[in-house]
Amino acid sequence: MPKSHFPIDLGLLAAVEQLIPPKSTILELGSGEGTNLLTNQYNVYSVEDDLEWVGYCEGTTYIHSPLVTKDHNGSTTSWYDVQILAEQLPNDYQLILVDGPSGKNGRIGLLDNLSLFKTDVPIILDDTIRSEEANIARELAFLLNRPMYTFWNFSIISPEILTSSQLAKIQHATLKVLKDEEDKYLLSYFSRCDRIADANLEYYEQIISEEQQLKAELNSLRRSKTRLGAIEKSYSLMLGRLLTAPLRAVSALFAKRRG
Ligand SMILES: C[S@@+](CC[C@H](N)C(=O)[O-])C[C@H]1O[C@@H](n2cnc3c(N)ncnc32)[C@H](O)[C@@H]1O
Repeated sequence: MPKSHFPIDLGLLAAVEQLIPPKSTILELGSGEGTNLLTNQYNVYSVEDDLEWVGYCEGTTYIHSPLVTKDHNGSTTSWYDVQILAEQLPNDYQLILVDGPSGKNGRIGLLDNLSLFKTDVPIILDDTIRSEEANIARELAFLLNRPMYTFWNFSIISPEILTSSQLAKIQHATLKVLKDEEDKYLLSYFSRCDRIADANLEYYEQIISEEQQLKAELNSLRRSKTRLGAIEKSYSLMLGRLLTAPLRAVSALFAKRRG
């Protein structure tokens, strides 16, 4: 059976893990089986238009918002009911995942309704392998004055510059997903599916292991500093006591005489 591309994949999950710590809150537009991957580690709110998918995942908080047809620059599009979103979206979340409405309905309505959302958080747009979604991501990055990081099938617009180790971990995970994709699927988006350059996973693995090594060295330096601090404190206390001992003895003597 061919693989379903509706749910988020492990590459996108790796991106989420690099952008926010566990137990953070995610606002997901468009829910499905992949929502379960998120609820394992995060607090999730899922905006969903289709009642068939509302309630599918036990761990998320659904916001059922049916699609409403509207005009966007002269053409008819449909997007979530803005009134419902205004009333029911949570106030706080640390990441937005744009994965709905489904591709056939289009996601352009997001650009017309940005004021509904927090925009100071990372935004992941899935399916930017498709031209329409890629254009929405590009315009969103333009509107927010933010850099956009594009992987083969999703994009990230982040308020902060991502580090080389974050990028290495995400790219490593996305390339592993790509390795198992069928040519037929890839050829529906790209003009060819043979790769010009090697995936070079070892390169990303090296960046990741260098960072782990640096972290370990930093932790050991921190531990040594704490130990040194404690030793220094105890020595200076002893020295202070030793040097002030005669003074304390004399003042005790005077105090006795006065008494
Ligand atoms: C790309 S899907 C969202 C996928 C979701 N974020 C996930 O990771 O599973 C977009 C929309 O398609 C519908 N949908 C979700 N899973 C589906 C599936 N396996 N097959 C068909 N439609 C699906 C839902 O209405 C959803 O809002």
